[in-house]
Amino acid sequence: MVKKLPIGVLVSGGGSNLQSLIDHIDQGTLNAEIRIVLSNNPDAFALERCRKHGIPTAVVDHREFSSRERFDGRMVEILNAAGVELVVMAGFMRILSPEFFQAFPMRIMNIHPALLPAFPGTHVQRKAVDYGVKFSGCTVHFADEGVDSGPIVIQAVVPVYEDDDAEILAARILKEEHRIYPQAIQYYAEGRIRIEGRKVHIRQPLPEAVAKETGSASPPVPVPPRSSD
Ligand code: GAR
Repeated sequence: MVKKLPIGVLVSGGGSNLQSLIDHIDQGTLNAEIRIVLSNNPDAFALERCRKHGIPTAVVDHREFSSRERFDGRMVEILNAAGVELVVMAGFMRILSPEFFQAFPMRIMNIHPALLPAFPGTHVQRKAVDYGVKFSGCTVHFADEGVDSGPIVIQAVVPVYEDDDAEILAARILKEEHRIYPQAIQYYAEGRIRIEGRKVHIRQPLPEAVAKETGSASPPVPVPPRSSD
């Protein structure tokens, strides 16, 4: 049995991405274990989802801390105590301090509802509609100290239609988020990710027989094939 990747998930709101991780774990397509879900918002619906699935949670309310560093320090303590290897930001709406990144260097993933580097920041679905782009999408990336600026793991593209509003576009993008976030984390769980500067390399999966022999993860999720141009 291949060891499950211990993850901690940071949330602030509805938690549909969290739900997709839970579902992929249940279906056996994500070899991870959610050790803790941390929310800065005591009323986040994501916490309700955890109760239903018996997943441990902690609320770290940023309003109760005198500084960002103290707030982040408390989160680091909780994540470390839970034995988390990869921190997964899933709709977490707080900016993290350099200390947080130093605690988990290149071990924090984020999902962003736009095709980075276009539209970093907030309200990006509305910004994409207002700008008149014909395509948008979502990006899974490693988080660094900049805003939505770390190395990109996977992106997915969706069309933007003339009569879209921000909500309709957000729903179309969310569907893709639910597909690519578990996939990116599975690549990480299988040890297939290598980061070189800005570039994230994803190696092809090992043949199943070798994977079994070496105790390395088996490969349910293939890297997208190159087109032969
Ligand atoms: C998702 O669209 C996610 O990409 C976005 O918040 C939403 C959370 O939805 N994250 C950000 O904008 C981070 N800057 P969820 O709570 O249903 O997963």
